[in-house]
Amino acid sequence: PRVAVVFGGRSSEHAISVSTAGSVLRAIDRDKYEVLPIGITHEGRWALASDEPARMAITDGRLPDVEHVAESTEGRVALPVDPSSREVVWSEPGAAPKALGEVDVVFPLLHGPWGEDGTLQGLLELSGVPYVGNGVLASAAGMDKEFTKRLLASHGLGVGRYTVVRPREWETEEGRAAVRERVAGLGLPLFVKPCRAGSSIGISKVKDLSDLDAAIEEARRHDPKLIIEAGVSGRELECAVLEFEDGPRASVPAEVLVGGGYEFYDFEAKYIDSSEVRIPAELTAEQTAEIRRQAIEAFEALGCEGLARVDFFLLDDGSWMVNEVNTMPGFTPISAYPKMWEASGMSYPELVDRLLQAALR
Ligand code: DAL
Ligand code: MG
Repeated sequence: PRVAVVFGGRSSEHAISVSTAGSVLRAIDRDKYEVLPIGITHEGRWALASDEPARMAITDGRLPDVEHVAESTEGRVALPVDPSSREVVWSEPGAAPKALGEVDVVFPLLHGPWGEDGTLQGLLELSGVPYVGNGVLASAAGMDKEFTKRLLASHGLGVGRYTVVRPREWETEEGRAAVRERVAGLGLPLFVKPCRAGSSIGISKVKDLSDLDAAIEEARRHDPKLIIEAGVSGRELECAVLEFEDGPRASVPAEVLVGGGYEFYDFEAKYIDSSEVRIPAELTAEQTAEIRRQAIEAFEALGCEGLARVDFFLLDDGSWMVNEVNTMPGFTPISAYPKMWEASGMSYPELVDRLLQAALR
């Protein structure tokens, strides 16, 4: 089969997507699949991209970008996929589209808005092209931290205390006063987050209310809609879910051990300093069974398909809270999702093959 691996994209997680794709491209069995690497630039242009793994890695803190190999550097993809033929095409302004040929399946290795949020999934649904992973609704729900929490809570899963700041609210004096009043009820510390983003980008931990406005302004650079969450005290755990023919299964769980000097698991701690992820997490048999049960419940609550990584807190009082659901989790060399499956007996190339085969069925 011919696979279009799509990566990069317009979101602030562009570089993580490139790193994810670098690892996946290396793991795809080239005797079995013909691969078409398609990069989406920061500006949203689609182009045939370089798939040289060395240039796609995060090296010495340098973040990779999509690099074009095709001459269409300035070209725009008018119709990324032609619905009538499943052909991937691009066109330069004023020129006839050039075809990249038909593809059998798309592997959308995109993180964040315009890729992990249902938008690309909708385009592919319209085009009738099979693709790996979650559909429109689960992708959109998982991208928006407010709707994620609403769906999880409706399934009885713990979501913690939070308040949402609507886009227009921060723009008036009354709105800002109302936000400050709601926030005062959450205690300290607080986490101020763009509602629709990932990899901890734009997130601030607020330990003093005098820092609230700056944190809100920072998050608003990434999304006009924000979520402010009450800080919790506990352990940070993750569990990978993968859909098999007979339904979703949960992996061995992992624990995130954030390195010293970090207030929380932020972008730097994740990708530059590579915080340690302990797999399997040191949990009792009961706790392990419970996190796996809740990971599957969260997967079902959002109507997920294919895969998801569910991130949790095990609070000091022994209760559980779901922090978020990632509908296209990172597949970088240090990412927990493939490592949790490795620890559960499935190698990285096997995992990639399984995801492609599920999409092709
Ligand atoms: N959003 C990043 C890629 C993750 O969840 O792994
Ligand atoms: Mg995330």
